[in-house]
Amino acid sequence: METGLKDKVVVVTGGASGIGLATVRRFAMEGCKVASWDVKDGAAQAGDGIFQKVDVTSAASVASAVAEVAARLGAVFVLVNNAGILRDGQLVKYKDGVLTGVMGDEQFDAVIGVNLKGVFNCTRAVVPHMIQGGGGVILNASSVVGLYGNFGQTNYVATKAGVIGMTKVWARELGKYHIRVNAVAPGFIATDMVRQMPEKILQGLVGHTPLGRLGQPEDIANAYAWLASDQASYITGTVLSVDGGAVTGT
Ligand code: NAI
Repeated sequence: METGLKDKVVVVTGGASGIGLATVRRFAMEGCKVASWDVKDGAAQAGDGIFQKVDVTSAASVASAVAEVAARLGAVFVLVNNAGILRDGQLVKYKDGVLTGVMGDEQFDAVIGVNLKGVFNCTRAVVPHMIQGGGGVILNASSVVGLYGNFGQTNYVATKAGVIGMTKVWARELGKYHIRVNAVAPGFIATDMVRQMPEKILQGLVGHTPLGRLGQPEDIANAYAWLASDQASYITGTVLSVDGGAVTGT
């Protein structure tokens, strides 16, 4: 069955590493023209693809990047809102009955800025181009922790749950323009974000995963490619868990 993706224009945020990089490569394999956006330097893209230095927290940076994509590649058909950061810490931390720390304002706001406002900035800028092009697909990076919560991640979990909310709103608002909107909730995927965790914690995570391994970036990239394809043409407003069966905290 045809995917309907050949020659389509795809934007992937956070495309310089991890899941984003695997996603850039996956859509390129489908014959798409991929624009990879990141704050850090990324690899030059093969074929028709381009790399752009973009900070998703800046509406101006996003607006000029979208205009450049439209001029160089054409109307955006797929937007993968993948860029994300962590700044973990407990809400309040005590040692021997004494308050030793709290989650700081900057710590909270930085994660909201990238993971939530960044998704808003990119989607708001891209959607008019999609409507003009006759439709499209928006894919948002949530997380299993956005569904179940997680110790030490007030800020991050707020964004990953918030992204699910925005996904459902946009599915309702944009369906009439032939735009589908879905979220993917990855479990623990072997990227830099997860590899930084202590070995003992990593082993614990694998132990709580029925499939008995960490996910690979390609596992998530495959889910994005399938959700963007015509094979998922009646799927909108949903959250697809891609997590090896893991449920955090169990
Ligand atoms: P990563 O840290 O390897 O890649 C994230 C990319 O986003 C980096 O290249 C970074 O430079 C970029 N980025 C950060 N701030 C940016 C900004 N302001 N503007 C543009 N780009 C920016 O992370 P990974 O693991 O590939 O995660 C990708 C997404 O998947 C994130 O949204 C993350 O929250 C989510 N996720 C990852 C999981 C995992 O186990 N690795 C689990 C669940 C969700």
